[in-house]
Amino acid sequence: MYRNSVTMQASRRTFLKQGATALIGSLAFQYRAEASLPSLPHNKGIVEPFDEPYWQLVRQQFPLSRDFIYLNNGTMGPSPYPVIEAVRKGMMECDQFGSYGGWAATSGKLGKFLGAHEDEIALTHNVTDGINIACWGLPLKKGDEVILTTHEHVGNALPWLNRRKLHGIVIKVFTPASTAEETLNRITALWTKKTRAVAVPHIPCTQGQILPVKEICTWAKEKGLYAVIDGAHGPGMLPVDLHDMGCDTYASCCHKWMLGPKGTGFLYVRKDFQETLQTYFLGGDSDTGKWNMALDPIPMGDYASSAHRYYGGTQAAGLYKGVDAAIDFIEGIGIENIHNRIKSLGKYVQNQLLTFGDKVELITPTEDRSRCAVNGFRIKGVEYTQFNTLCSENKIRIRSVGENGLNSLRVSTHIYNTKQEIDKLIELVGKSLKGK
Ligand SMILES: Cc1ncc(COP(=O)(O)O)c(C=O)c1O
Repeated sequence: MYRNSVTMQASRRTFLKQGATALIGSLAFQYRAEASLPSLPHNKGIVEPFDEPYWQLVRQQFPLSRDFIYLNNGTMGPSPYPVIEAVRKGMMECDQFGSYGGWAATSGKLGKFLGAHEDEIALTHNVTDGINIACWGLPLKKGDEVILTTHEHVGNALPWLNRRKLHGIVIKVFTPASTAEETLNRITALWTKKTRAVAVPHIPCTQGQILPVKEICTWAKEKGLYAVIDGAHGPGMLPVDLHDMGCDTYASCCHKWMLGPKGTGFLYVRKDFQETLQTYFLGGDSDTGKWNMALDPIPMGDYASSAHRYYGGTQAAGLYKGVDAAIDFIEGIGIENIHNRIKSLGKYVQNQLLTFGDKVELITPTEDRSRCAVNGFRIKGVEYTQFNTLCSENKIRIRSVGENGLNSLRVSTHIYNTKQEIDKLIELVGKSLKGK
């Protein structure tokens, strides 16, 4: 009995070992085969948004499975091969040669990409990290008011709600309107003598509306308010110039529209704002290196004279090599070309949804300046969760939006998507409406 079970375990181990070797072998083969694809020609001019031969070449750069249709870039942007390869190489450098550091250089690259200075970029792991650093660092006291939207992601809701709970700040909300002008009116109408900060998303996760952030920041400055923006969906979707935008902080990530490694992000803190925004999260390289626990009194030098004061310690060097590669990938195609492509795909989604008349409610504005790659909608008489299940059954991935009681659906398109993929989604909308 005992011998039998040992033999069985041994043969199971042999089987698993052989199976795993075969699996790793086949994955390695697949990876090698695909990694040897011709690299994307660097583009020097304008690419039309529906120049399909070019965009199909772009599509080939992604390992994203062809077995399903991915319309959920708003949650996570799949990386192309050059990014994955850069991560692998970056990790090998550490693991083969014990090399340490190097990630701070990515701040410079991100700064250049986003119209900011390297001293203004703190590396983080995601948008939530950056929002928390900004939210906790603001010198707010009990009764101070902060303006948010009714369309927040949990990552820009909970930090503020927690400050309300712990410090007694007051939260005021507005619902984004169908035009940028009306949205701005709704924000300014919330102002009181106690308003201290505007903490809105550049682009809400719920329905992808582009808020008039530059006007919002200009108004905030006029009123002496802090402008702290949740930038989860800006970089990589459209050209972003942070100095021109005029915000005090901008929290974003590299794992959505920038198509970078997952778990990478950054927080922009305007240079002149770094003395105002307090830092609570310090470690290696966050200061000028004067501390010494063996002295009495124990000295502490100044904070770093850059946004490095907002983070410290060891970072994932390989992942930041991937961020560098993601920026190169985007710049190789051209951010304007990417923006035009995904905005055109977003418009195509809107036009197709609008063909259903009042049976489908498009909840993203059609105003040109307020729309881009993400659209939200509801189907009359069809539960949003039910439609999402239908999508999953048909191998289409979109997102349900249950937060804030919106009970809607969200479709986000990036450069690797096609009109044909959108048509498949639209067919399902039609199917779900049959007999209604
Ligand atoms: C608008 C918005 N803010 C914040 C976040 C949180 O991002 P992360 O998961 O990178 O922290 C998201 C994620 O989807 C988002 O859409």
